[in-house]
Amino acid sequence: MRFWYTTYVPRHLVSIADLDAAEIVRILDHGDRYWALAQEPIKKLTSLRGRTVINLFFEASTRTRTSFEIAAKRLSAEAINISSSASSISKGETLIDTAENLEAMSPDVIVLRHSFGGAAAMLANHVSCAVINAGDGQHEHPTQALLDAATIRRMKGRPLAGAASTPGAGTGPLTIDGLEVAIVGDIAHSRVARSNILCLAKLGARIRLVAPLTLVPRGIELIGGDITRERVRVVNRLEDGLDGVDVVMMLRIQHERAGGEAPRFPNTRELSRTFGLSERTLGFAKPDAIVMHPGPINRGVELAPQVADSPRAVILQQVS
Ligand code: CP
Repeated sequence: MRFWYTTYVPRHLVSIADLDAAEIVRILDHGDRYWALAQEPIKKLTSLRGRTVINLFFEASTRTRTSFEIAAKRLSAEAINISSSASSISKGETLIDTAENLEAMSPDVIVLRHSFGGAAAMLANHVSCAVINAGDGQHEHPTQALLDAATIRRMKGRPLAGAASTPGAGTGPLTIDGLEVAIVGDIAHSRVARSNILCLAKLGARIRLVAPLTLVPRGIELIGGDITRERVRVVNRLEDGLDGVDVVMMLRIQHERAGGEAPRFPNTRELSRTFGLSERTLGFAKPDAIVMHPGPINRGVELAPQVADSPRAVILQQVS
């Protein structure tokens, strides 16, 4: 599987596993240019003029669906949004039949969110237009990882050896190589965690997965082979997990994915008390550490409101 970007070739973006570090950096560099466009009074380019993008969302979404629609429109593509309740899936049509019917109308890109891990790969094997995975079950959320890496690079990136640039200013070539990132919370059910582990490790960051043992899948350090084996470790105590990190990435409890499972922790209040981020526990991270969250945040559960609203939280910058 290959990825798709502005020199138009109908390729797919299904998994961060399909990208190497150079391809990720190239996408982040493109992203920085489009981020600058969003600061302009007239936010329009013609890169995708004449193209058609179908946003096919079978799960709830605020950030991802809206950002794909805005991105398509700012690049002059036609954007069509379809949700599960408004599609013929609700009348018993299969996902593949739906996709083949949509493809008969010649779209250039289908952006898919689905509760089945593997849905985007399945679609990519059945259609000839590009497929972008906007989150598939517990598998991956590659565009979230790319925007998270872009945010970390902009806020905490260090100049590449020999290059003149300003960390935090988004100028010049920056790298996140060597940064310490803690991903805290429900790792077990998180597609965001999986994509971020792969993406951040490929860019050279070191990652701590911070959660009770029951919320960390056995062997997750190996999902990217040697790259992640060398750079990922599991920590089961919040204070140790946050000790001296540059970035704290909080995850919400994915109750919607735990249906039918035996409970993995006593109750939400207990988990919040032991693994929630407060002003006190943030004190274990570096004094200039940033706080991230893919959203939606659950205030007072994984994240204290004082932290969510503090200048150290870059949650809305991630969305931008
Ligand atoms: N981060 C994220 O995927 O948010 P939405 O579920 O609102 O799209």
